[in-house]
Amino acid sequence: MNSPISLRDLPTGNIFRAGDVFVLFGELFGRGYANGLINEAKKSGMTVVGITVGRRDENNALRALTADELAEAEANLGGRIINVPLMAGFDLDAPAGEPTPTDLLSGMTLKSWQEDKLDWAHIEKCREVGIKRFKDSVARVMNELDSLIPDGANAFFAHTMAGGIPKVKVFLAIANRIYKGRGERFMSSRALLDSDLGKLILMNFDEVTANTFQYLIEGSTAIRTRLEKAGGQVRYTAYGYHGTEILIENQYQWQTYSNYTQGLAKMRLEQVAVNAWKKGVVATVYNCPEIRTNSSDIFAGVELSLFPLLKALKQENGGAWAEAQWQACRPLLQDGITLEALLQKIEDYNVNPVMKTFRNFSAWPMDNSEALAELMIGTSDDIIQMHTDRKELVVGILSALVLEGTGPLMFYETSKPAGPVLWLNHDIIAKQLNAMHNS
Ligand SMILES: NC(=O)c1ccc[n+]([C@@H]2O[C@H](COP(=O)([O-])OP(=O)(O)OC[C@H]3O[C@@H](n4cnc5c(N)ncnc54)[C@H](O)[C@@H]3O)[C@@H](O)[C@H]2O)c1
Repeated sequence: MNSPISLRDLPTGNIFRAGDVFVLFGELFGRGYANGLINEAKKSGMTVVGITVGRRDENNALRALTADELAEAEANLGGRIINVPLMAGFDLDAPAGEPTPTDLLSGMTLKSWQEDKLDWAHIEKCREVGIKRFKDSVARVMNELDSLIPDGANAFFAHTMAGGIPKVKVFLAIANRIYKGRGERFMSSRALLDSDLGKLILMNFDEVTANTFQYLIEGSTAIRTRLEKAGGQVRYTAYGYHGTEILIENQYQWQTYSNYTQGLAKMRLEQVAVNAWKKGVVATVYNCPEIRTNSSDIFAGVELSLFPLLKALKQENGGAWAEAQWQACRPLLQDGITLEALLQKIEDYNVNPVMKTFRNFSAWPMDNSEALAELMIGTSDDIIQMHTDRKELVVGILSALVLEGTGPLMFYETSKPAGPVLWLNHDIIAKQLNAMHNS
């Protein structure tokens, strides 16, 4: 992608109806993006089917959900879950009796990790074991799914998987410095990427965040062929991230969180959709705005780009409902602190020359810098201080709104998507929310 391809008009078509099947490829968490899509699928009367990534037992072996866990997950999803563990990545895989990549990392310390080297031939064997395990499990899932989608139905596969951080102590300490450290605690993301540890993490991100989309498309080929023969249609979506246009100086401008370590994997995900599209498979990656979820909480400052959504709500035909969102945010701030003052702080942050240097689309994903960490994490801390309760934040309200807006945008656009990679920026999200609430 040389420049973002943005969705500018509200989609309205819908090929999905009762009897069609919506398959969530990833687990559903309370604040997760997938809720927006699932709400729309249910509104259209579709049958919802889910999967599980499984759980680890005390020896780190992957297992299916217990009966209780399964019942709870199905109640949460509002649909049946195929109970075959689909944990992606190879951080805990190895040929029988040999050490896993996580075992290899466990000897690294905060002092040694930048020099520590990994045995890449062994890592490659682990990667192959992990991929085979995942693909075999996808085949079992598809086998069960096949009987749940009747001829004549349409199917919507929604990929939501992202992750791949190996669970080793040393990385927790490094992540805290890279994503949250400033001043003496600052650590450059480049140092991570140049280390063997970093290279392994990027490979695992590729597996979890990008390659799983490819395995999903390949693994469902038989179902897709059968449904299409009977006149049905099959769609695939995935959630991307590649920066977002937000209002800065009254204009929608592309900006990004840096360093987004998963950026390369997200570009690979885009490529999976582009390649599938060339072969006639309708797969679309929707690049979505920064919101706070279980997965993004680690990135201090990622939430700062959310605040200008309030301005977008007013700019995009905002009426009484947009005004009500402003009013809902005000009581969360300390006495004497106005929402206008908070938004001015965000505007000052965004026009700061340090931030401007990071608005370079073709150089994405850029490394962090000490100046960026100082400004971004400092501003993030200052903004939290403006609230009365650090657990009740304006970004909580705004994250829920973005999630709500992306639901219909992705769902309806996917009936006849404009292309394999589309950006959902603050303008279209605000338009969608206003259209839903002002009618
Ligand atoms: N939160 C954001 O700011 C943001 C922005 C743009 C795109 N996204 C993308 O949206 C999607 C959903 O993320 P979210 O932020 O809603 O958080 P989330 O925590 O709700 O979802 C993360 C998903 O990844 C799956 N997952 C995690 N590790 C996995 C593994 N090893 N194997 C298989 N699946 C695994 C989980 O089951 C879950 O479905 C992700 O692709 C994410 O990158 C998020």
